[in-house]
Amino acid sequence: MRGGNPSSVHAPGRAARAAIEAARAQVAAALGADRRHITFTSGATEALHLAVAGVVRPGDAVVASAVEHPAVFGACERAGGRVGRVPVDGQAALEPAALLAHTPEDARLVALMRAQNEVGTLYPVAALAEAARRRAPNALVLCDAVQAWGKVPLDVTALGADLVVVSGHKIGAPPGVGALWTRPGVALAPLLAGGPQERGRRAGTENVPGIVGLGVAASAIGQRLAAMDRIRALRDRLRAGLRDRLGRAYVEHGDPDGGLPNTLAFRIAGVPGDVLLAALDLEGVALSSGSACASGAVEPSPVLRAMGLDDETARQGLRASLGPETRAEDIERVLTALPALVQRAQAA
Ligand SMILES: Cc1ncc(COP(=O)(O)O)c(C=O)c1O
Repeated sequence: MRGGNPSSVHAPGRAARAAIEAARAQVAAALGADRRHITFTSGATEALHLAVAGVVRPGDAVVASAVEHPAVFGACERAGGRVGRVPVDGQAALEPAALLAHTPEDARLVALMRAQNEVGTLYPVAALAEAARRRAPNALVLCDAVQAWGKVPLDVTALGADLVVVSGHKIGAPPGVGALWTRPGVALAPLLAGGPQERGRRAGTENVPGIVGLGVAASAIGQRLAAMDRIRALRDRLRAGLRDRLGRAYVEHGDPDGGLPNTLAFRIAGVPGDVLLAALDLEGVALSSGSACASGAVEPSPVLRAMGLDDETARQGLRASLGPETRAEDIERVLTALPALVQRAQAA
């Protein structure tokens, strides 16, 4: 494989091609898919753009939950779709009635993520897709399954979508690689044209090391899933500890019991998330805030805003994402450090 261009016919080229095809089989197996329907991309953002640009024409009606990843909205805007955002409730859950109310009969695309990346809410995509298709028979359903892969079982047939997007770095593969699964029969115009790679769906020499890494990580997906019981127990230990130590100042976002097992989204009332984030970072603890840092100003998370929080409260959002590498000591470190940091921030 070393250095070979997978489009070359010499031996290193053939080895690179074989490595890509082996990885395709591994990714397909992990998703319950046929390998002919997997297209490798540079990540989920590109896969989402490929899916959207591949089917949406200017003026087409598109429906998306209000808490989709910004890449979905960016791709829809770029394609010229008329996007209707389906509101969510205070836990980021989506009512089928709300989806139907926002789905016109001529909708071309319905975008529904499987798991929300900031708060961990899970969506019953198969049931929602079925309802949407009854309303809009020509609609294709796009599922961003990035956060769900490796945390809850994922099978493209059971998911009921037409286009499914995953990303490597969420399952331990190197960053910068992802994949799009396309239901057989879905015609997709390429986003990057000008070469025969990926069956003409994605021109350009493939990222062979990234794709091989994605294949290896996909083949270990069962182990990642098996670790989720342990990870959920750690998450629940964190949750109980925060509640004990911070009392009413600790407020949860979303529904940890019904959501992703590794995610705890919360706020400490009155304390901006970025203040705690920076202080925890100095203690060696890496948490996320729901906020995006745009042009120097901390913007409140659109996801928390969509859940009904005002700007100031949304700026308090924090998220702990646990992974296979998380240990009990890490949880204790947060529980030891956070109350003092909160006190300091409240006093400031
Ligand atoms: C739900 C979701 N969709 C899409 C993306 C974009 O993925 P990528 O960084 O592979 O482009 C992310 C990023 O982590 C995500 O969480």
